[in-house]
Amino acid sequence: TDYWVVVPAAGVGKRMGADRPKQYLPLLGRPLLSLTLRNILSWPGLAGVVVALSKDDEFFPHLKEASHPLMHTVIGGAERADSVLSALEFLAQREHGDTPVLVHDAARPCVAMEDISALLHSQVAQTALLARQASDTVKRGSEISGVQCVEQTLDRKQIWLAQTPQRAPLALLRSCLSQALQQGEAVTDEASALEIFGHSPQLVEGRSDNIKVTHPTDIVMAETILRLRYA
Ligand code: CTP
Ligand code: MG
Repeated sequence: TDYWVVVPAAGVGKRMGADRPKQYLPLLGRPLLSLTLRNILSWPGLAGVVVALSKDDEFFPHLKEASHPLMHTVIGGAERADSVLSALEFLAQREHGDTPVLVHDAARPCVAMEDISALLHSQVAQTALLARQASDTVKRGSEISGVQCVEQTLDRKQIWLAQTPQRAPLALLRSCLSQALQQGEAVTDEASALEIFGHSPQLVEGRSDNIKVTHPTDIVMAETILRLRYA
């Protein structure tokens, strides 16, 4: 079945600390968002893309991908979840509730095709996400005498770091996200909204190089990853 991709791209990139939102910083000579969208447009079975943009965005119309026939835009919101919900409201006007939706961060230009296939074919659970098993030993910390100390070492095999894309049917994701936001829950990814309502998204092991460009050094890392892949 065909699926839609929602791309939250309405953030300000505070941690990057650049003169513009990080999704418009140059990476291999092209804006980061341009590379992410070009990647998405190559995925087989894609029905369309909805990009959530800041209301003050002045960069998007200049991207080459902006005029692609499968490209749609909406105005995002204050938090990532608000931006995603805004795109889902748009989709709900035109698509059936069962339509599969993949939500993918604008800031993850390096996701590989093999991981997209794995996510699309992971049909054991109704919902799924790319994730990575922790490779470092994981400690839970707590404050003792004003400093953080080890409270416990967690079982590393049970710890997963969430990536995107995250997959869910349109109507289910829309209702979980909107209810979670109404309840004031902290929703930092789609899975966290689904979990609140009793769903258990399948963890699909993704590649470690599907990094989220967050800090200045991540730009160099992403360039290296893409250069190696397409060399
Ligand atoms: N995002 C969004 N709407 C928001 C906040 C974030 O669409 N209100 C998007 C970002 O553009 C990014 C993705 O969500 O593609 C992941 O968020 P993050 O990496 O945290 O990006 P920023 O919020 O822009 O960065 P920072 O937290 O450092 O400000
Ligand atoms: Mg953020």
